Amino acid sequence: MEKKNDYERSLKQHYQRPNLSVIISDALKAAGKQINSHEDTAALDEFHMRGRDATRELARLAGLTPDDVVLDLGCGLGGPARRLAAEFGCRVTGIDVMPEYIEAADMLTQMVGLAQRVTFRTANMLDMPFDTESFDLVWSQHTFMNIEDKTRLFAEIHRVLRPGGRLAFYEVLSGSETPVYYPVQWASDPSINFLLAEEELIEQIAGAGFEQTHWQEMSAECARWFQNVVDRMGKRPKDAPPPVALNLVIGRTTAEKARNTARNLSENRIRVVYGVWRRS
Ligand SMILES: C[S@@+](CC[C@H](N)C(=O)[O-])C[C@H]1O[C@@H](n2cnc3c(N)ncnc32)[C@H](O)[C@@H]1O
Repeated sequence: MEKKNDYERSLKQHYQRPNLSVIISDALKAAGKQINSHEDTAALDEFHMRGRDATRELARLAGLTPDDVVLDLGCGLGGPARRLAAEFGCRVTGIDVMPEYIEAADMLTQMVGLAQRVTFRTANMLDMPFDTESFDLVWSQHTFMNIEDKTRLFAEIHRVLRPGGRLAFYEVLSGSETPVYYPVQWASDPSINFLLAEEELIEQIAGAGFEQTHWQEMSAECARWFQNVVDRMGKRPKDAPPPVALNLVIGRTTAEKARNTARNLSENRIRVVYGVWRRS
């Protein structure tokens, strides 16, 4: 129980952003930014490496269709969920443990008129408030690394998927070198960082009753992308107003985390992969 409380405290300390919706709407107003479509918030709400490109690529690999009913685990501010609904025509439910992320996700979804097809709930992916066999596709981008109990995670995913349903993910793995440099975007220290090696992750998912249909290494693309992010940050004039982007969520450690992730990737301390698996 004590261990569970320590974990939840660390997770909260790392991700919590009180008044996030107000911070976002104030920043949008100050920048005079009109929000008419899901594209207008992509810099702010795609909380993973390579942003919108990665979301579109994974959706194509997973063969997403308008008939799919999708569950987005650890949906953050809901950018990927809105993109899947707007560009692939499906219905999406997003869950996240952080209530203020869900509040912001609801606000942004209302703004772009997607609330009929995209809904959000505060919930833990280890104990999901959904009936058995409710979804055609479970989606996850950069969330497995915060979950220690992978056996329970994949059992829960298997439970909520229909037979033949797909699990599509874009996840960070441990690399050949240690340690990981902290802080990174998903953890301030090792207490909420639970990266698995490729063979460990494969064993866990296969053991839960899934068959692999696609596996793709994305580390080199992510390393190039992050190096670009770091270079652009370095060139920003010191007196420029902060961009309306992920820095609103990540906070004052945005640049340090970007540098660390770029270095972790280039030194093979972490890896990034796409995976698509089918539930038996
Ligand atoms: C790096 S962010 C990725 C957000 C989103 N998937 C995206 O790509 O834009 C990781 C997210 O996982 C959420 N998370 C971590 N542990 C969780 C859990 N046990 N259940 C639900 N959400 C969780 C965090 O609150 C955070 O929003």
